[in-house]
Amino acid sequence: MKLAFIGIGNVGFAIANKLQQNGHEIIVASTKEMSKSLDTALEKNPNFSVLPLQHAVNNGDVIFVATPFFATEALLAGIDFKGKTLVDCTNPVGAGLTHGLKSVESGSEYLQKIVPSANVVKAFTIYGYENLVEQWFENASIRPMMPFAGNNIECKVLVAKLIEEMGFEPMDCGDLSQALHLEHMTLLWVTMVRKWQLSPKLVWAAIRGE
Ligand SMILES: NC(=O)c1ccc[n+]([C@@H]2O[C@H](COP(=O)([O-])OP(=O)(O)OC[C@H]3O[C@@H](n4cnc5c(N)ncnc54)[C@H](OP(=O)(O)O)[C@@H]3O)[C@@H](O)[C@H]2O)c1
Repeated sequence: MKLAFIGIGNVGFAIANKLQQNGHEIIVASTKEMSKSLDTALEKNPNFSVLPLQHAVNNGDVIFVATPFFATEALLAGIDFKGKTLVDCTNPVGAGLTHGLKSVESGSEYLQKIVPSANVVKAFTIYGYENLVEQWFENASIRPMMPFAGNNIECKVLVAKLIEEMGFEPMDCGDLSQALHLEHMTLLWVTMVRKWQLSPKLVWAAIRGE
């Protein structure tokens, strides 16, 4: 598939790099004149191509947004996604590791209102980027799960395939309203790892009974 990335820092690069190695074509959206992360990404992986934002969206089958949450509104308002899948990798984190929208609504629902022409699917958000860079768990007996949430079933099928390729068990958590719970899971992980200094190689697995 052709995958377009808006934001190619820690998270965007880790996902784009792995999926490019799996054979996908990666298009990075250029959104400003100078971008340190874009320069670094192209140094590390010269196979990425770069297009202006709307062109990157036009050319991508699936689009990822991995910018700071509070930058997304100004960046994406007015972009025509033509009904494509927009994988929301952002997390609205507020002061003191609280929910950035005061848990009133999820960042993904907020984003969906800004970009009604997209089908937003929240994914790749509940762990630190370290678990996206390296599939250190690939020989483990239990795969870590990656929860995702969104309103459009076909878009979620696409995202589930990409989650599998990243080495995780995709876990469909329902419609986009569930994204709020995923954002709280992020806050838990961030508190435990970034604040309490547990290893960033912390992932959750789902174990089901009959
Ligand atoms: N870090 C994690 O472990 C982690 C894990 C899961 C989800 N997330 C979420 O993923 C998102 C990205 O996190 P990250 O760690 O990848 O951040 P990052 O390394 O700082 O990368 C951010 C990317 O967004 C771009 N960007 C920043 N401000 C922008 C703006 N105003 N307009 C356009 N582009 C802008 C940056 O470009 P420049 O280099 O040009 O500034 C860079 O490409 C955040 O929402 C974060 O909450 C983070």
